[in-house]
Amino acid sequence: TMKLVLDCDPGVDDAVAVMLALASPEVELLGLSTVFGNAPVDVTTRNARTLLRAGGRPDLPVAKGAHGPLVGRFGGGVPFIHGKDGLGDGNVARASEDDRPPDLSAVELLRREVLAAPGEVTLLAVGPLTNIALFARVHPEAARQVARVVVMGGNALSPGNITPGAEANIHNDPEAADIVMGFDWPVAMVGLDVTDGIVLGPAHLDAIGSGGTPAHDLLARAVPLYRQFYKDFNDIDGVAAHDPAALALLLVPDLFDTEDWPIRVELSGIGRGKTWPQTRRRPTPPPGWEGRPPVQVATGARSEAVADFIADRIA
Ligand code: BDR
Ligand code: CA
Repeated sequence: TMKLVLDCDPGVDDAVAVMLALASPEVELLGLSTVFGNAPVDVTTRNARTLLRAGGRPDLPVAKGAHGPLVGRFGGGVPFIHGKDGLGDGNVARASEDDRPPDLSAVELLRREVLAAPGEVTLLAVGPLTNIALFARVHPEAARQVARVVVMGGNALSPGNITPGAEANIHNDPEAADIVMGFDWPVAMVGLDVTDGIVLGPAHLDAIGSGGTPAHDLLARAVPLYRQFYKDFNDIDGVAAHDPAALALLLVPDLFDTEDWPIRVELSGIGRGKTWPQTRRRPTPPPGWEGRPPVQVATGARSEAVADFIADRIA
């Protein structure tokens, strides 16, 4: 089995990713760390607790992380996509605020779990990369013992979603993303290049919302607002499975195509948060890309097969 810490900002598609992890026998989920993003971190932390309860694993630790980016300020989330409560404003029975305080800080959870099983722990990051960057900067020796970092975020060859240039998770903390993509550990980037096309359609959504367990009931309540956003603004009947797609890279890698490209993150101007791959081979790296490690970038996927896999597993 694969030991996994899931760093998240739940978030409707984060909720699907957590339920996919809990439904996957290949995964040993060690805990959730939380970050600002789709909603403020107090909200995403409470949601993480809610997801573990609904998923039947209230025993797992929830570790609260950053309330804002390394530089600048958090803009406040996207209530029109994920709801003010971060779970689609669908009256999900949320863990009460005082249910159980966060167990430890996100960076401490990452350090503890990695040092408990050096070389064996995978980090799956499906929110802004603030916690992951802080872990690398504060505990670099421990961070070098991470087996793999898989990121949902970025856009190598395709347009952004939160701005024309940038994807939301990277845009929420570009400095952190540039640290994570440049650190001395194996990183995979599952960005909009593939996740925009991995769509859970009506039949998939019926399946993941109707199993009758608390997890299925939660998804049935959380998804409709997110789905409405895709209908109104993207003209599709269904939702992009961004965060679960990143977990799918770990579970069904044969359904993805990847390229090894060094990545830099744009830090200024209207392109802030854009991920720039160095795709052309050259005798020496271009200025700015010197010394940057290759990142495994997902460039294509058997999209329908990935969507079927995600829905079948959770159903
Ligand atoms: C990413 O941004 C968040 O809003 C989603 O949860 C996902 O992690 C998609 O751009
Ligand atoms: Ca997310």
